[in-house]
Amino acid sequence: MNYLKALNFGSNILKSNSIKTHLIESELLLAKVLNSKRENILIKLDDQINIKNFNDFKKLILRRKKKEPIAHILKNKEFWKLNFFINKDVLIPRPSSEIIVEETLKLVELNSSKRILDIGTGSGCIIISIIYERPNCRGIAIDICKKAIKVAKYNAKIHHLNNMINFLNIDVDKFNLSKYDFIISNPPYISDIDIKRLDEDVRLFEPHLALRGGIDGFSEIKKLIIKSKKLLKYKGKLIFEIGNKQIKFSKFFLEKHGFYLNKICKDIQTHPRVLIATKIDNE
Ligand SMILES: C[S@@+](CC[C@H](N)C(=O)[O-])C[C@H]1O[C@@H](n2cnc3c(N)ncnc32)[C@H](O)[C@@H]1O
Repeated sequence: MNYLKALNFGSNILKSNSIKTHLIESELLLAKVLNSKRENILIKLDDQINIKNFNDFKKLILRRKKKEPIAHILKNKEFWKLNFFINKDVLIPRPSSEIIVEETLKLVELNSSKRILDIGTGSGCIIISIIYERPNCRGIAIDICKKAIKVAKYNAKIHHLNNMINFLNIDVDKFNLSKYDFIISNPPYISDIDIKRLDEDVRLFEPHLALRGGIDGFSEIKKLIIKSKKLLKYKGKLIFEIGNKQIKFSKFFLEKHGFYLNKICKDIQTHPRVLIATKIDNE
């Protein structure tokens, strides 16, 4: 069998299981088995695949058919300008969280040396991307999940940024160290009811600790705002992600706790997704 036939075989199975990006995913999985790049396979479609490789490819297609996320199978996800190691202990980085990186970079000049705290770092994708772009800044990244911190540390190491970011396994409630120019976060913000409605690949495979925002979805957002009030310097900025329909309450809660809401950034579907707020209470 040649590569083209193998790709069509994989793509058809994924398509009949309602996986929209079936063709590209089939290409990525074949590339993984052949230890090659997708682009290299597409210029060699007449090459023959051996039986062992085809059987390995079939196994990966069947994992994906059962809705295991492609990032888990590939153990990898691109975010901003870097590749991140991903496993079941961390949320798969989402394009919407790149807005946090983009907006932070707009506010931090190239050679400035700001102190940036990332609350709920997961794979470390956000803080690592920011420090990669602003190497004079220093990061502290915390997560309640010990296994997530292990992944984040590994990612910082492969990008040679481990000396610039301090990773700590701690609950945000217990963290009280130092003061920051910026606090960034993609907190868990899905309500208990909405968790049940998530797509299977998210609900069954991604860590609920990274998704669950309590009964109404706001428990971690509230903690983040209250903690940021304590840990930000006067006029420091809080940049964080919110879920659908969370803008109204988030604005109210920010203003109640001494923040001025500077900007609401929308995602590609035009939902308000990332908020930028300044601490204006000088406590
Ligand atoms: C939505 S994920 C974000 C991960 C990563 N920052 C990203 O954007 O891909 C939220 C993260 O917050 C962590 N988390 C949840 N509750 C926490 C708490 N009370 N204190 C610290 N981290 C927490 C979870 O373990 C998870 O890694």
